[in-house]
Amino acid sequence: MKLVLWPWFLLFFALVTSSWSLSSDVQALLALSRNLTLPSSISSNWSASDATPCTWYGVTCNGMNRVIILDLSSSGVSGSLGPEICRLKYLQTLNLSYNNISGNIPASMGNLKRLSWLSLYINSLSGTIPEELFKNQFLEQVYLHSNQLSGSIPFSVGEMTSLKSLWLHENMLSGVLPASIGNCTKLGGALSLNNQLSGSLPETLSKIKGLRIFDASYNSFTRRNHFQFRKLQVGKFLRGIQLYKG
Ligand SMILES: *[C@@H]1O[C@H](CO)[C@@H](O)[C@H](O)[C@H]1NC(C)=O
Ligand SMILES: *[C@@H]1O[C@H](CO)[C@@H](O)[C@H](O)[C@H]1NC(C)=O
Ligand SMILES: *[C@@H]1O[C@H](CO)[C@@H](O)[C@H](O)[C@H]1NC(C)=O
Ligand SMILES: *[C@@H]1O[C@H](CO)[C@@H](O)[C@H](O)[C@H]1NC(C)=O
Ligand SMILES: *[C@@H]1O[C@H](CO)[C@@H](O)[C@H](O)[C@H]1NC(C)=O
Repeated sequence: MKLVLWPWFLLFFALVTSSWSLSSDVQALLALSRNLTLPSSISSNWSASDATPCTWYGVTCNGMNRVIILDLSSSGVSGSLGPEICRLKYLQTLNLSYNNISGNIPASMGNLKRLSWLSLYINSLSGTIPEELFKNQFLEQVYLHSNQLSGSIPFSVGEMTSLKSLWLHENMLSGVLPASIGNCTKLGGALSLNNQLSGSLPETLSKIKGLRIFDASYNSFTRRNHFQFRKLQVGKFLRGIQLYKG
């Protein structure tokens, strides 16, 4: 008798767990939409009765109906980004750019271990960049520019070993550019212009061989460096070098 029941039990178990995980992304997005103010055209589209969110505006799923892309860029979204974002465990791309989202970047985003593309630029985000956010070896593109972010650039920036682009310009960031940035050896572009960064540029920048675009102008960096910019190709430092010509 037991032998006959086992397969049914397993099937039941499989169905329950898969439907639970399917709807967990529905639950996560609906939870997010409580703090994120969506225009009615989107909130009416995000229907709570759907088994998956895969046909919802801005949502792209993988073959297992899990959300991998959330793109609400230029969609008239305001309000704040809640910590529930971390419940979209399979998220690879988050694009909320060109909106008017305020509040902080939730530290829980550090749990989005598959996230490789993060676009939060042109919003009204404030507060500090959470240290946890940068503890991610899969993040390749990080665009946080044109917000009102303050505080310092987390030292954990050095843990983003896949990082190719880091755009932090037009914020209110202060403190130093952490030396750990030298660990981001795949970095091709780093923009930090128009902040309140100070100190000297870290020597470790010279370790990043593929750095093509670097602009740290309109900050409070000291002109004197402890390393020779001349050793680097001028092209690599673009407008950044103009700062040092003064
Ligand atoms: C939601 O919008 C998408 C297009 O973005 C559309 O394909 C889908 O049918 C819409 N769903 C509902 C319930 O309106
Ligand atoms: C994010 O949105 C902007 C503006 O709509 C667009 O230019 C960009 O390609 C988008 N990025 C991704 C990864 O979808
Ligand atoms: C979400 O909204 C609730 C109620 O308005 C508020 O208490 C909470 O602080 C908000 N959360 C975030 C992260 O803004
Ligand atoms: C953005 O939202 C803030 C409130 O959080 C509001 O004061 C401001 O006018 C909004 N800006 C735009 C361009 O809608
Ligand atoms: C990155 O670089 C700094 C100094 O340049 C070093 O102390 C640190 O251990 C490195 N590793 C990480 C993961 O940041």
